Amino acid sequence: MKTPRGFFRPLAIGAPTPWREPPARVERMIHFVPPHLDKVRAKVPEIAPTVDVILANLEDAIPADAKGAALAGTVAMSREVDFRALDVGLWVRINGLNSPWHLDEVATLVEKSGDRIDVLMVPKVEGPWDIFYMDQLLASLEAKHGVTRPILLHAILETAEGVMNVEQIAGASPRMQGISLGPADLAASRAMKTTRVGGGHPGYRVIEDPRADGSVRVSVQQDLWHYTLAKMVDACAAHGIKPFYGPFGAIDDPVACEQQFRNAFLMGCAGAWSLHPSQIEIAKRVFSPAPDEVAFARRILEAMPDGTGVAMLDGKMQDDATWKQAKVMVDCAKQIATKDAAYAGLYGF
Ligand code: GLV
Ligand code: MG
Repeated sequence: MKTPRGFFRPLAIGAPTPWREPPARVERMIHFVPPHLDKVRAKVPEIAPTVDVILANLEDAIPADAKGAALAGTVAMSREVDFRALDVGLWVRINGLNSPWHLDEVATLVEKSGDRIDVLMVPKVEGPWDIFYMDQLLASLEAKHGVTRPILLHAILETAEGVMNVEQIAGASPRMQGISLGPADLAASRAMKTTRVGGGHPGYRVIEDPRADGSVRVSVQQDLWHYTLAKMVDACAAHGIKPFYGPFGAIDDPVACEQQFRNAFLMGCAGAWSLHPSQIEIAKRVFSPAPDEVAFARRILEAMPDGTGVAMLDGKMQDDATWKQAKVMVDCAKQIATKDAAYAGLYGF
């Protein structure tokens, strides 16, 4: 492990000084765009103001013979829209570190768009060594091309080995912005017997004991992702970075998507991926705290101005710990209100 002082030193002569704290941004949805499709890319200027993050996807779902076009499309997109002026993050999901596209792709991205890209999403991260490698590579490229803002890293947690090492991944570099659950690849890596991208499964459930009268036993689906998500949230929270639910592939099931996103939100996640425009609104609704909850949280803060002691509100006991929960909720709402006028109105900020 690096010494505390060494942790925040630039890794290359001329590279920018690492962030002490990644910039605080609203990131309720990371909206995936296939940059090789000109027709989809043409819609980005229209979609960008409606989302928090636009992500150019170079990895899975982009055919091998379109990787070059996707890279060129990403560079073009980074210049066609002033994402920073819109307060919209520009992220890129790069190809795996072991893929034939990885090295040239990262070099091109930093050279041509290094001052415009906020975050590189790194797939199939297995351990801290993958982040150390990216950290050094980016520092060398940033120094070479005079990039002044360090590009952040976001890991996808989508292999069994990655899950095993998630705590070290979260703390591997000051570039770490967050981690997303990647349930599709993780299912394959674990040899789960499913064919889905996230969400539940009708076969994974608990069932009550047999009933004396032989009537139908109550049985309910369980959340396949609970353990991994919880482990990831704790690792991220402990290291001061953000956890995200990843993709929900059943575009035709917005109800289940909303439920899966809501479970993640309640457990501490900051956002999720939107793979289709219809999921943008779902993510916005779920990852913006409900206005009535925010109003109640504000009452807690007002009832205990210095955050200590005890108070009763509507029959519920409040103390220092609920004050802290309320502060999380109000701070989150305040941050969203600075970006989203509709929610600023709903919250009354
Ligand atoms: C995302 O990349 C996943 O594999 O779920
Ligand atoms: Mg994946």
